[in-house]
Amino acid sequence: MPEHRKFEQVTAKAHANIALIKYWGKRDEELFLPMNSSLSVTLDKFYTETSVQFCGKLKKDVFIFNNNIADEAETNKVSNYLNQIRKMAGVERYAMVQSVNHVPTAAGFASSASGYAALASAAVRAIDLDIDQKKLTQVARIGSGSACRSIYGGFVEWTKGDLEDGSDCYARQLENEDYWDLSILAIQLSAEEKSLSSRAGMKLTVDTSPYYELWVKEAGKDLATLKDALRHKDFEQLGQVTESNALKMHATTLGANPPHWYWEPGTISVMNQVRKLRDSGIPAYFTMDAGPNVFVLCQQRDKEVVEQTLLTLKEVQKIYVCQPGPGVSYLAK
Ligand code: DP6
Repeated sequence: MPEHRKFEQVTAKAHANIALIKYWGKRDEELFLPMNSSLSVTLDKFYTETSVQFCGKLKKDVFIFNNNIADEAETNKVSNYLNQIRKMAGVERYAMVQSVNHVPTAAGFASSASGYAALASAAVRAIDLDIDQKKLTQVARIGSGSACRSIYGGFVEWTKGDLEDGSDCYARQLENEDYWDLSILAIQLSAEEKSLSSRAGMKLTVDTSPYYELWVKEAGKDLATLKDALRHKDFEQLGQVTESNALKMHATTLGANPPHWYWEPGTISVMNQVRKLRDSGIPAYFTMDAGPNVFVLCQQRDKEVVEQTLLTLKEVQKIYVCQPGPGVSYLAK
């Protein structure tokens, strides 16, 4: 390793994202290549800040998460991920990684997307790897698929690509965070850990659900419809396809063997209430990831009424009113 190389501490901040067209299923688990392309909005309220420094004196990687030394399993995950970055850079030093999650982790909003987007961005810069943004999305992807979309702000498409080596599989920004001032309400329902991770849930679905093949076809059509809605700023079209895509994703899990579902009673209550809001003339639409919490999309002018109405439900603990947020940024020391 050339002596003149400096390994400074780098801190990156990355925001979580919510998929409007879901990523659900991998065709290659090692490279994190998805079966279908997806599209998300980056969220302004939820983010992770991560500092990385590669240091010649360390005997192993150290991972400090939310100001506590992480357990062995968590540290190993980070180490295995950093090994890939070290390999790309031809560097063998271990790293000190400090990460703070400004995401209500315990409440089921835990975001591997913001976590790996921040880790990838900080580590790549700290190890002095000269890559462009597109490549950075690919490096984030191999930590957690959805993380590739969190490199950018606003509305982001993750193109599945066709090549086996994943070189044409990456995320790109379609519109930035100022394009459309939608409101995205994150409805906190449950503080419990989710029973089946998205990683395990999607694998089980790919392997066993008879509906899976249809999901892939539908996701392709839904993506085209959503991009059209985005282009024309047609909120109702965007909301309808978002909602229907989420329901189709969740339907595949019911067909899996063993069947599983991520919804809790509160999930259904919010879904029903959103429909009632629509019946009363307020356009609002829901979507859920692999967990019980619900995200509700509405227009700025309706956000207070939607928030107040949903707060009346007994299962709703808290609501975070978000907007489209920015991409990765680096913090000065
Ligand atoms: C339902 O990105 O968490 O949230 O790639 O295995 O780390 P891994 O999975 P992850 O899956 C996210 C699934 C989803 C939909 C989405 O965000 O597109």
